[in-house]
Amino acid sequence: MITCSAPGKIFLFGEHAVVYGKTAIACAIDLRAHVTVEEAGSIQMKGPGGNIDINPRKHPYIYTVVEKFKNLTDVSGVCIDIRSDIPVGSGLGSSAAVTIATIKALDIFYGTNLSLDDIAQMGHQVESEVQGRASPTDTFVSTFGGMVQIPDRKKLGYYDMLIVIGNTGKFSSTRKIVSNVAALKERHPSVIGQIMDTISAISETGIEYIQTGDFHTVGELMNINQGLLDSIGVGSKELSELVYASRKAGALGSKITGAGGGGCMIALCEHKNLSRVAHSIKRAGGDSFICRTSNSGVRAEGKS
Ligand code: MEV
Repeated sequence: MITCSAPGKIFLFGEHAVVYGKTAIACAIDLRAHVTVEEAGSIQMKGPGGNIDINPRKHPYIYTVVEKFKNLTDVSGVCIDIRSDIPVGSGLGSSAAVTIATIKALDIFYGTNLSLDDIAQMGHQVESEVQGRASPTDTFVSTFGGMVQIPDRKKLGYYDMLIVIGNTGKFSSTRKIVSNVAALKERHPSVIGQIMDTISAISETGIEYIQTGDFHTVGELMNINQGLLDSIGVGSKELSELVYASRKAGALGSKITGAGGGGCMIALCEHKNLSRVAHSIKRAGGDSFICRTSNSGVRAEGKS
């Protein structure tokens, strides 16, 4: 029996601007997906009522990973069990984390010796096939962990940051929101173009302040980034309520993470304010959880 885990991710800065080749900073968090694989009579998933056959409609990511392994090795019977701390469909990279942890677990199980680059690449192919279009950010961060500058996929050092995540619980389609932003940019190319440039400058300035540990200034830059995300129409009343509630409770800065429209926001906090911020987000109608940035990408948890 082999268990592997892989992290979810947040955008500290730069979502949407990165679609236009501008700089963004994404970071792994300590919420992880765990995948256990063990020998079985056929290719199965562990379900609440017992093992079930893998269904391409119900388990598209796992199904597609297994199909990829069929090109690499003789895929014998295996049972795959998934447990995840990462809320699904909320912009925290839950599908990427499950995909990457499954690839690593099957890699060990079948002895296929994939490198981290191979794992990230296969993960991105799986997400692209399932979703139609997928950003390589989620699978890259989930594979390598730590803080990553996008689109160059340059790993920055590791900086321990305390984050409260607020989840609006509202689903939003990344594809739809990205296409709304593209339409806005087409109507106002120079205005939106300059906003994207400014978001990129925020990301680049943000890196310097993260590296010097000046989290007050990082928070200030997150607030400016949030204003610009609102200006391109990816905010929502629910997200704004959580953002302002977190700031009122003492967060150093807060903003949407991911595509927006629903999903999650993040609040950068000092230790002393963490539970206050988490409670305040709850009172404002969100689900909240405390996490920290993480340097750990995909990893084997145990073999028995
Ligand atoms: C979505 O998580 C982040 C976006 O920047 C889209 C992307 O990077 O592909 C909105």
